[in-house]
Amino acid sequence: MTAMADRLLAALAGSAARRYGGEVVSELEHALQCGELARDRGADEELQLACLLHDVGRYAIDQSLVADTLETAHAGAATRGHHDLGADLLAPWVPERVAWCIRMHADAKRYLCAIEPGYFDRLSPASRHTLRLQGGVMSPAEVAHFAEHRWLRDAVALRRWDDEAKVVGKPTRSLEDWAPFLRRGVSR
Ligand SMILES: [Fe+2]
Repeated sequence: MTAMADRLLAALAGSAARRYGGEVVSELEHALQCGELARDRGADEELQLACLLHDVGRYAIDQSLVADTLETAHAGAATRGHHDLGADLLAPWVPERVAWCIRMHADAKRYLCAIEPGYFDRLSPASRHTLRLQGGVMSPAEVAHFAEHRWLRDAVALRRWDDEAKVVGKPTRSLEDWAPFLRRGVSR
């Protein structure tokens, strides 16, 4: 058990009261659905952990520091994206691959917009809005660089489950069910 695991579990519990971006599910429902999709589709434990915690920068961080929120009044030179802030928070506590996948989940959206016809059109209005704040569609040079990364497939998988994890009322395992797994994963 670590102080960080306790902090994350408390923040996740609190995120039940927050809407996920401009979407129709809560932050907690979104996190549980994303983690469960990863688990059900056979992702290994590191990728499951990254999926469960991918939006930690939205609910475990002072939101005045976050640039890519829907309240763009916050955005300024001193702010950074929720993906970077979340990855920085977790990096000392989780395997490098977990933090990397979280850091890259906005870039994975920018990547898919560039390489997959129709992907942008399927994004929700909120996700299109934050896409602009996150740098917009990747350039061909950015695509080529990103595509070379050894964990590219993990980042793209997380992104697709992220997109799917917005189903109103979908039953999932509870936060309590995930707690032992989270404590194990966030303990380095
Ligand atoms: Fe998400």
